[in-house]
Amino acid sequence: MDKIRRTKIVDVLQRTDYGAEVNVKGWVRTHRSSKVVDFIALNDGSTINNVQVVVDPATVDAELLKQVTTGACISATGKLVESQGQGQNSEIQCTDLQLLGACGSDYPMQKKGQTFEYMRQHAHLRLRTNTFGAVMRIRHNMAIAIHKYFHDHGFFYFHSPIITASDAEGAGEMFQVTTKKLDDLKKDENGKVNYSDDFFGKMTSLTVSGQLEGELGATALGQIYTFGPTFRAENSNTPRHLAEFWMIEPEMAFIDLDDLMDTEEDFIKYCVRWALDNCKDDLAFLNKMIDNTLIERLQGVVSEDFVRLDYTEGINILEEAVKAGKKFEFPVSWGMDLASEHERFLVEEHFKKPVIMTHYPKGIKAFYMKLDEDGRTVQGTDVLFPQIGEIIGGSVREESYDKLVAQIEERHIPMKDMWWYLDTRRFGTCPHGGFGLGFERLILFVTGMQNIRDVIPFPRTPKSAEF
Ligand code: 4AD
Ligand code: MG
Repeated sequence: MDKIRRTKIVDVLQRTDYGAEVNVKGWVRTHRSSKVVDFIALNDGSTINNVQVVVDPATVDAELLKQVTTGACISATGKLVESQGQGQNSEIQCTDLQLLGACGSDYPMQKKGQTFEYMRQHAHLRLRTNTFGAVMRIRHNMAIAIHKYFHDHGFFYFHSPIITASDAEGAGEMFQVTTKKLDDLKKDENGKVNYSDDFFGKMTSLTVSGQLEGELGATALGQIYTFGPTFRAENSNTPRHLAEFWMIEPEMAFIDLDDLMDTEEDFIKYCVRWALDNCKDDLAFLNKMIDNTLIERLQGVVSEDFVRLDYTEGINILEEAVKAGKKFEFPVSWGMDLASEHERFLVEEHFKKPVIMTHYPKGIKAFYMKLDEDGRTVQGTDVLFPQIGEIIGGSVREESYDKLVAQIEERHIPMKDMWWYLDTRRFGTCPHGGFGLGFERLILFVTGMQNIRDVIPFPRTPKSAEF
């Protein structure tokens, strides 16, 4: 007999050429047996849907059939037939069943209804579950949507470095990169470590943002975007922070604040629409199992204009709410950084739509943001989303050399490390701006998952770097 090529289950379920012989391979979700017939629900990761493999137990070795347990890997060949059962078109009348990999009864993903906490401890196997399969397929689709959006809009994919000697956000929460042996680190007479003999000859770290290099790209190529891993050693054990996350950072020459907000809104709507159009089965599954307002929320974001709100106005609204009896954990006053509870109040309770907040006090934002004329606020924008809070942070950049230097001095950022960045303002400076989208925050929103650790295959968080 000629070898039959494997068909993916996503394709088998589309086919209607009943009578054809097909082969599928995958992992057993469930196996129900009776005297006369066995039903095996098989999944190969190509879709959330299982194909039903129908087996006549009289035709298969009983010992083999016993090993077809949840989690086992099998190959099934047989005739494609129209399904009698509801909810699927085709099933397979099995004529040849092979066990590729047995699965012991200690398989950790066996039971239904395990907690996400439990699954995180088994992140190497949780990918085999329905939920994580759906999340990972959506994650892939979002990456494709992002590249497509920017490519179609004339942005160039620009690769910023991962190892860097600058602290782009001025946050100082970086992971150091060194080949020095930490056990025999020597300090000089000033108590400082000398890095001149380290691999790069200076202190280096993993990047917290590709923006500064992105600005070099945009002020040469016009429009670029980065899409890469980003590292932050902030010790925030929250459902929205990772120590290693992926960020998309477009940067555009010749734009102003309105152009920036238009792009932010258009881009994120495009991504959400892409999910609605291209991830229907997975979204339907998540809507049913995880959050039954998910699809409605996604449709809402796509169809509504985002609110554009001054920070100062936002603070007024929050203060009014406090006067009217609203309780926040953190007090509200002009000049403070909004906490997630404040952002979510504005988005979920007050406006009931996404908000783009602008004109933040300069003291709570990074040095590179363009100063407003009043000298108190900057042209920074945060896009605030239901359930998530901040999903995008961006700004128009300070293009004036003198003002930028003043900002750097005010914040005591070592100027000598910034010479290459300042050169953009010395040689043909131009108005420009951009933003950063946290990829995992987007995936959280689009999947309805509650914890950022559950939308990346192998999360990195404080005290956790397993797998
Ligand atoms: O607001 P952030 O810190 O802005 C920047 O890094 C700028 N350089 C962006 C730019 O203008 N090019 O980060 C941008 C976004 C946040 O809005 C959030 O979605 C995400 O990155 N983010 C994180 N996501 C997961 N874990 C963390 N620890 C994150 N920190 C920021
Ligand atoms: Mg931010």
